[in-house]
Amino acid sequence: MSLTPMQHFINRDLAVLWHPCTQMKDHEALVPLIPIRRGEGVWLEDYAGRRYLDAISSWWVNLFGHANPHINAAIKQQLDQLEHVMLAGYSHEPALLLAEKLVALTPPGLNRCFYADNGSSGIEVALKMSFHYWHNTGQPRKTKFLTLEQGYHGETLGALALGSVALYKDTYGPLLMQAITAPSPDCSLLTREPGETCDSHARRQFDALEILLARHADELCAVILEPLVQCASGMRMHPPAYLRWLRDACDRHNVHLIADEIAVGFGRTGTLFACEQAAISPDFICLSKGLTGGYLPLCAVLTHEHIYQAFYDDYQKLTAFLHSHSYTGNPLACRAALATLEIFETNAVLENNRLLAQRMADSTAHLQDHPHVAEVRQTGMILAIEMVKDKAARLPYPWQERRGLQVYNYALSQGALLRPLGNVVYFMPPYVITPEQIDWLAAIATAGITQATQ
Ligand SMILES: Cc1ncc(COP(=O)(O)O)c(C=O)c1O
Repeated sequence: MSLTPMQHFINRDLAVLWHPCTQMKDHEALVPLIPIRRGEGVWLEDYAGRRYLDAISSWWVNLFGHANPHINAAIKQQLDQLEHVMLAGYSHEPALLLAEKLVALTPPGLNRCFYADNGSSGIEVALKMSFHYWHNTGQPRKTKFLTLEQGYHGETLGALALGSVALYKDTYGPLLMQAITAPSPDCSLLTREPGETCDSHARRQFDALEILLARHADELCAVILEPLVQCASGMRMHPPAYLRWLRDACDRHNVHLIADEIAVGFGRTGTLFACEQAAISPDFICLSKGLTGGYLPLCAVLTHEHIYQAFYDDYQKLTAFLHSHSYTGNPLACRAALATLEIFETNAVLENNRLLAQRMADSTAHLQDHPHVAEVRQTGMILAIEMVKDKAARLPYPWQERRGLQVYNYALSQGALLRPLGNVVYFMPPYVITPEQIDWLAAIATAGITQATQ
């Protein structure tokens, strides 16, 4: 019997490829492997011609749709001019223009831009730069980092050490530097005391953080967090006030603040950058994912002039920041990022997103009353629905039951890519999604959740 093109592809793939974030045995029966032939707008199409609405923007990277004509054209043009040149000793227009744009767009004072290849490597840059700053300025005791429970910053060893998602981290524990971990400000219903408001919960968690900050200030380089939404641990949200308290505390204790806006940047939380909602400027901001519209790997780490100046001296003093990746500031990736920012400039993206975010809220509001939904929470274009075993007792489903996977498989059968985080089903769609498509997704999520929780 001859195989379909789809089956043929899958067999070849499973013979040689090792996929990320996957127990490969799942592909025997539990989770289908889906070869994608092409993409257009919010849609992905497989080798059998079936289409899937990419409701999670392919791991939160895509902003303006797959095969976006404007970004495609920009990359094609750049390709004929310069595909790559090393950035040490050389420069090129896309790297320069993008740095100028990011300096102008990011919170005040962030006026030096360093490129890395992806989110995790950008986190490594920020950690090393912060440590190195204190080293260069005569404070060598500062060698540690403070991070938040429920945080996630990537999976290279430095970034992993500062995350708290056990699934990704625990196995590698013996390889990781020790971080100081403060409680998460996560305001979800499952974490708040009965009757406690979001702000008072966040304040209580902040007070616990400040005790740690005060105790360890002499040995701390920086505090790192994902502003407003801790994404990978299940879209855990906190109010902007927490960022203001933290900025103020970092200043008082002479510790840097690293804002990891790799997932939340570029409009996901409703503003271009999450830090804007608290009117704060971190010492380092890390940007990736949506930076290139979901096209090419790139990270930009921006910092302040006084930090840059601590590295600027005669060569013999050995104060330079000697960190490099072969593809630092790749011209194609920078050009994709410029084209992405042009779309923000020429379209009322954030205004339009407000309408889409409202539609996401309206179309899922009924789920608040679902017997197995703890809550529906939302920050801008990120909406999360948390399933629970016992709503009154706030009892989660055991992770081993993989309820989220059941929703995932149901959504696939309906033509939607909704890949939950454990028991949390969420929408984080490309901004070119339509209100009608949001309604359609909400109906699929509702049916999927009902089926998975029966
Ligand atoms: C907040 C945050 N930081 C860092 C990373 C790591 O980025 P990358 O996967 O590009 O290494 C991620 C990825 O999901 C992330 O969500």
